[in-house]
Amino acid sequence: MRKLKNILVTGGAGFIGSNFIHYLFGLSSANGNLFNDADFSGNVVNVDCLTYAGNLESLKDVEEKFGGKRYFFEKVDICNRPEIERILKQYDIDTIIHFAAESHVDRSILGPETFIKTNVMGTFTLLDAARSFWKKPDGTFRDDVLFHHISTDEVYGSLGETGYFTETTPYDPRSPYSSSKASSDHIAMAYFHTYGLPLTLSNCTNNYGPYQFPEKLLPLMISNIRDGKPLPVYGKGDNIRDWIYVEDHNRAVWLIVNKGRTGQKYNIGGENEWQNIKLLHKVIELSAEKLGKPASEIEKTITYVKDRPGHDKRYAIDCTKIKTELGWQRKMTFEEGLNATVDWYLKNTEWVNHILSGEYTKWIDANYKSR
Ligand code: NAD
Ligand code: DAU
Repeated sequence: MRKLKNILVTGGAGFIGSNFIHYLFGLSSANGNLFNDADFSGNVVNVDCLTYAGNLESLKDVEEKFGGKRYFFEKVDICNRPEIERILKQYDIDTIIHFAAESHVDRSILGPETFIKTNVMGTFTLLDAARSFWKKPDGTFRDDVLFHHISTDEVYGSLGETGYFTETTPYDPRSPYSSSKASSDHIAMAYFHTYGLPLTLSNCTNNYGPYQFPEKLLPLMISNIRDGKPLPVYGKGDNIRDWIYVEDHNRAVWLIVNKGRTGQKYNIGGENEWQNIKLLHKVIELSAEKLGKPASEIEKTITYVKDRPGHDKRYAIDCTKIKTELGWQRKMTFEEGLNATVDWYLKNTEWVNHILSGEYTKWIDANYKSR
């Protein structure tokens, strides 16, 4: 087990990062985090430049309980080298868990440049700053440090009807998003092989749960159902994704950071494949019950739209390695997790509405002391 004291989390105001910070502090994100087994007593520095996807409202409770004591927020772009160097030094960072990224495939098709800047250059900047900060005078690295790079299964490309991505599947990214993440993975691994930077890497499938920006499939569909808006299904709706509850992903990341072997990559998956249209029927059924509306009425709002260019057909992960090597196991059943997630978006109307109206940026200005 590594001894982790001062963790730098990048992208902590986003979906997975904010859930990760809740998990580290043993806080429940509403009905979201159920396991609370992190057992961490150190400090967390959240570095996030608050793009459209960064929302400090997701961390309200963390700020209230731990702000200025064990939790610190720094509004900084990961491409800003002098500021990253200052933060590493000021907080004596020994662990970097790098979530920050431009993460939405559709946006990467419309405007790839920020994806290259943040995902490629930003990752490079962090790696290189860590390399300088953690290096000892003899050229080796401190033995208490680790850089964990968070990545996606999309780097592996697209599967047909059968087969699974393993850690040795060759990279074959198809979108500007996945190719920028693939580049960042290669650069991260190069820092391990070339310089010996203590590093681990994980590639995960589609996450679901609380605090996800309502541009991604599940929160978009749930909020559109709530508002009686059309439910846009790309192509025939027959693409397949493997869904994992966000805290199961974060528990896996925490295990890797604590016990993973440096220079290794670990696949993380839900072993839970769904065709988009079948998943949507399920979400409609759950929402109808909770909203007291007939499911048949909601079904009528399904709208088949033009397909996403280069739309990957199927993702599915073989996560045998993390199971056998680190003893990780998914804990949330999909029935329970999906039900809790639909509930969360329907109940947390203020959080959803603030995003839909753009109000969340004003909330941050008005409420966040250290901005
Ligand atoms: P997100 O878009 O919800 O959050 C990203 C966060 O990064 C935001 O808070 C944003 O403000 C911040 N950010 C973006 N650019 C930045 C920059 N230049 N400097 C500082 N902060 C910046 O993303 P997410 O869904 O939480 O994904 C987190 C990570 O997990 C990403 O690396 C993504 O590739 C990976 N991932 C996501 C999924 C998924 O299903 N969402 C699955 C596998 C891997
Ligand atoms: O696999 C991991 C990846 O999962 C992460 O790396 C990405 O950051 C994350 O955004 C997610 O990528 P996807 O493209 O799979 O997620 P998205 O929610 O955008 O779409 C899921 C599926 O639903 C995909 O097949 C496209 C389809 N879709 C999506 C939207 C937003 C629709 O049919 N309609 C929609 O409106």
